Amino acid sequence: MGRGATSQNGLIECSTDKILEKLTAAVNTQNKTSECKLDYILKKLTAVSAKTNAARLWRGCLWCTPAPRREAGTVRRTVDDMKVFFQSCKGFDPHQTTDFYNSWAETYEQDSETMKYRAPQLAVDFLNDHFCGNRGDAQVLDVACGSGLAAKLMFDLGFKHFVGVDGSKGMLEQAAKSGLYRELKLALLGTDPLPAQTGEFDVVIIVGALRDGFVPVSIIRELYKTTKPGGYVCMSRVDPKSESGNKYKTSMERELQLMVEEGLWSPVDTKEMHRYMIDVYNDKSKDEKKEDFLHGTMYLYRKSLNKL
Ligand SMILES: C[S@@+](CC[C@H](N)C(=O)[O-])C[C@H]1O[C@@H](n2cnc3c(N)ncnc32)[C@H](O)[C@@H]1O
Repeated sequence: MGRGATSQNGLIECSTDKILEKLTAAVNTQNKTSECKLDYILKKLTAVSAKTNAARLWRGCLWCTPAPRREAGTVRRTVDDMKVFFQSCKGFDPHQTTDFYNSWAETYEQDSETMKYRAPQLAVDFLNDHFCGNRGDAQVLDVACGSGLAAKLMFDLGFKHFVGVDGSKGMLEQAAKSGLYRELKLALLGTDPLPAQTGEFDVVIIVGALRDGFVPVSIIRELYKTTKPGGYVCMSRVDPKSESGNKYKTSMERELQLMVEEGLWSPVDTKEMHRYMIDVYNDKSKDEKKEDFLHGTMYLYRKSLNKL
């Protein structure tokens, strides 16, 4: 039997590389607790070494008790750890994605540094370069705010008034620790409406969430609606390396252009971001020393003055 093959009795003989991928796909369809999912995996494996490795991988991942090295809080996860972690979230829907962020929230910022995640810094600089107005007075809506990385950077540039929205309670709890947000709202965008009034914000920013399995393209009109006439919508996203990612980008750019043609807003600038973050979705280069980077794109639009 080859690596990763399933025997006739349904047991799986495979290398640890393959374990997470195969079994995650199987248990993701089951409505069970974390510990039940791990039990299911262990029963499916024949080799003792594979069981040990699977348990270790899973405990470091999504549904299980965090591994001791994470609890210690002092030992950082490596890029390879992050690659294993990210294998577990492939193909997630938005509900599963926000659960994933719940489980990740506590070490999100530390791990983001490890992954050289530069998107918030690049997006905030991009916005700041174009922003005309009084930063201290501007009302900012941080959509899919996560732990608040963008607001922290904007605060340093003089922005003071923030409202945050995210679908992950755990991430909102981290954002609350920043003390920067006057309100933090839980909403699963695409399912729940954007919890904001029409024409409420001078700046709406969304970083790292406009992608397949996260926030749908339809949310863009809601971002526009909650912006004041003359206000800015800043959107930053990772560029796809997959067919579904390409489809998302095409459909997003079509929507952006359609809204220009409808006279709702005008483009201020679009910019490619090099080295958005290390490509932790690709575990093929796991054993190689070189780091593969993902790139991204930032879009800045300004709402027409005559629209509400
Ligand atoms: C990559 S993180 C980005 C967080 C933050 N903007 C940053 O750059 O650090 C993606 C965030 O999007 C949130 N998210 C994903 N899908 C969502 C949805 N459908 N509705 C609301 N939040 C969502 C996640 O909970 C997570 O906090």
